[in-house]
Amino acid sequence: MGRVISCCNAKGGTGKTTVALNLASIFASHFRKKVLAIDLDPQGNLAVGLGVDPREIRKTTFRLLMDDAPDMDQYIQKIKPNLDLIPNALEPNMEAMLSSRRNRERLLESRLQPLKDRYDFIILDTPPALETSTINAMVASDEILIVIDCGYYALYGLNQLMETLSEVQREFQKYDLVIRALVNLFDQRQKMDREVREEVERFFESLMLETVIHKNVKLTEAASSGKPILEYDKKSSGYFDFTRLSKELLDIYDRKRKAEKEGTASRAR
Ligand SMILES: Nc1ncnc2c1ncn2[C@@H]1O[C@H](COP(=O)(O)OP(=O)(O)O)[C@@H](O)[C@H]1O
Ligand SMILES: [Mg+2]
Repeated sequence: MGRVISCCNAKGGTGKTTVALNLASIFASHFRKKVLAIDLDPQGNLAVGLGVDPREIRKTTFRLLMDDAPDMDQYIQKIKPNLDLIPNALEPNMEAMLSSRRNRERLLESRLQPLKDRYDFIILDTPPALETSTINAMVASDEILIVIDCGYYALYGLNQLMETLSEVQREFQKYDLVIRALVNLFDQRQKMDREVREEVERFFESLMLETVIHKNVKLTEAASSGKPILEYDKKSSGYFDFTRLSKELLDIYDRKRKAEKEGTASRAR
């Protein structure tokens, strides 16, 4: 069964899209996993970062959520071997239309159900707000990756995000939902970045991933030229960090699978 991972933070510019697209492409290309990336953000940046011309986007995630009997293959765009995408785009009144639907928080979960055995990973990029589409992503997820930048207001809004996640866990009986924190845009030379990292560590404790994504201009250049970092610059620190992140996550899942087999699941993260 495919593992559904959401990149979340109610704050913009923390690197959610950067993480979603690079994680998806490294899982797919380097580790030969079958990956579906889905954009829940109406700004549609995920498609741009994967080289899709926004003018060629027709079937969006929003339309999928509004479609009661979707033909999934109409929505899924093939990007590369092992990597598919459902893009998103801005339309008027999206939030109002979504929030007036019955079962509005479970729309994505039910759309993904028949897809889960077709993919190893389904990676969701979410908007910088706690709105209906973000809640849909949380409800559909096995795992939340909170992407945190090292700026002035890095910790701003994290309490509210954690509270929303607790509500989702309670209301939708998602007691297995895994939460992890990832520090992005880190510059070891900056005192503030080191302080933010320590603060994030104190806040998240064992939920922190060991890998940190350093600030690396190649990641921005890659995204703006429509390429994941592994196609843009394999010598960059960005490529190194994302490969390390993918490896760290895959190792965690392997350990978990082994522990489940041996009946010691509770001891594995
Ligand atoms: N580690 C990084 N190093 C350098 N630039 C980054 C890094 N992560 C993200 N960026 C850049 O910061 C901006 C915001 O990142 P993005 O992934 O779009 O954030 P979000 O999706 O959370 O709004 C983009 O221009 C992106 O290229
Ligand atoms: Mg984004």
